[in-house]
Amino acid sequence: MKEKKRPFIGAGSNLGWKFNFLHLQIAFIVTMFLLVIALYSFKESSINSNSTEAVHDDQKEAAVNKISDNSTFSSCNLFSGKWVFDNKSYPLYKGRQCSLMNDELACEKYGRKNLNYQHWRWQPNHCDLPRFDAIDLLEKLRNKRVVYVGDSLNRNQWMSMVCLIESSILDKPKTLHYNGSLITFKALEYNVSIDFYWAPMLLESNCDDPTNHRVSERIIRAKAIEKHARNWNDADVLVFNSYIWWRQLKLKVLWGSFESADSDRAYEDVEMLKAYEMALKSWFHWLDNHVNRSKTRVFFVSSSPTHNRAEEWGKPKGHKCFYETDPISDEGYWSMDSDPKMMRLVEKYINKLSSQGVKAQMLNITQLSEYRKDAHPSMHRKFWDQLTEEQLTTPNYHTDCTHWCLPGVPDVWNEFLYACLFHQPN
Ligand SMILES: *[C@@H]1O[C@H](CO)[C@@H](O)[C@H](O)[C@H]1NC(C)=O
Ligand SMILES: *[C@@H]1O[C@H](CO)[C@@H](O)[C@H](O)[C@H]1NC(C)=O
Ligand SMILES: *[C@@H]1O[C@H](CO)[C@@H](O)[C@H](O)[C@H]1NC(C)=O
Ligand SMILES: *[C@@H]1O[C@H](CO)[C@@H](O)[C@H](O)[C@H]1NC(C)=O
Ligand SMILES: *[C@@H]1O[C@H](CO)[C@@H](O)[C@H](O)[C@H]1NC(C)=O
Ligand SMILES: *[C@@H]1O[C@H](CO)[C@@H](O)[C@H](O)[C@H]1NC(C)=O
Repeated sequence: MKEKKRPFIGAGSNLGWKFNFLHLQIAFIVTMFLLVIALYSFKESSINSNSTEAVHDDQKEAAVNKISDNSTFSSCNLFSGKWVFDNKSYPLYKGRQCSLMNDELACEKYGRKNLNYQHWRWQPNHCDLPRFDAIDLLEKLRNKRVVYVGDSLNRNQWMSMVCLIESSILDKPKTLHYNGSLITFKALEYNVSIDFYWAPMLLESNCDDPTNHRVSERIIRAKAIEKHARNWNDADVLVFNSYIWWRQLKLKVLWGSFESADSDRAYEDVEMLKAYEMALKSWFHWLDNHVNRSKTRVFFVSSSPTHNRAEEWGKPKGHKCFYETDPISDEGYWSMDSDPKMMRLVEKYINKLSSQGVKAQMLNITQLSEYRKDAHPSMHRKFWDQLTEEQLTTPNYHTDCTHWCLPGVPDVWNEFLYACLFHQPN
């Protein structure tokens, strides 16, 4: 039985506002750094020993779109490439085939007329992405649990995965269940569970309420990850993200607990990057201590870029993504709102996990998504705030240039996930 849809929980509810405000704050953070980061190598094996046949099965291999040369694929950087207009094979599903789709992401339903953003395929420079096959994915994930953990961008990607799957099993039983911070989608015939868990800062924070998390000052609780982690303890695949909630100069770190007002409770103002590293460190230690190395695959999705400053791509100052219908073609385009230093920290802890024998990888989606100024909901979504007359008549004011329409860019992020899980030869 499907549970009745309810408003999309989380930051989604107020984003138009939140990020206008946020970006004023971020205006102070202006240092732009060159990306000089080592190519991420793909040497992960498949999800567990039971499914190694997925990797070595030549038939499957042949079914994969044009992956004629394994060696090329295994050493290929999937994330370096270009967008190609391809209205034959994209979108991978129709918006109306996704009954569970959330109104914040349903751009077509909310009046977007130009649908070109649905038709772009990502073409890696030195290989092809395997074609996404939801049934194959479900077969390989049979009796397994995937948990996306993070903020509303991660939920955007989770929703994309749910739509990718749902559109392939339209007549098969599935359920969607909400329980606090956890949303569980199940494809019953396969006993596959695809979950989302709201933890925008990974650690415990005062933004952990899945619906009510607008706070004047963000506070994270030092080293406190266990309360969240017990919700994804048993997952076979973990897909993390955490970025946009950190975008301010400093954060308050709490030593002690949120609940008890004991006397040794102390707050400390910590510079953002340092606080971010504290969180990643606790995240690393938890995984290092708890992950079953022969079972669980760990992914971290790099920062999702926003398109709130049209002057960055040569449009009038003050504009956002509202009138955009084409990707940015300027190779290497990078917004000052994407912080390479944060991503380098993520990479550092992913590498530490790998060196501890945990199968961990970064999904490096930042650069390729930077090009997609055309693919945000902008005005074409449900907003939960009561809009003033001025906001209603000023499209550039009330515009979501942070999340992504579905079908759209996050489908490609999930294609990477699929490729990394099942199509990387050892
Ligand atoms: C691809 O890899 C499989 C198994 O690793 C091997 O049997 C096959 O010959 C390879 N194909 C090519 C074209 O290299
Ligand atoms: C991510 O991919 C881009 C484009 O290929 C590359 O320039 C960058 O170095 C990569 N970053 C990381 C952390 O792997
Ligand atoms: C696909 O795009 C091409 C070029 O824009 C156009 O001529 C063609 O009609 C489109 N096909 C479909 C099915 O939309
Ligand atoms: C169904 O999947 C869950 C993981 O999500 C697993 O723990 C459970 O054992 C599976 N049930 C059966 C009958 O295999
Ligand atoms: C909701 O989750 C809690 C644990 O977080 C669990 O104890 C409870 O049984 C769950 N409720 C339902 C209806 O699944
Ligand atoms: C780790 O996972 C493997 C594969 O699912 C399982 O056989 C093994 O019992 C697990 N080990 C522990 C300690 O849970």
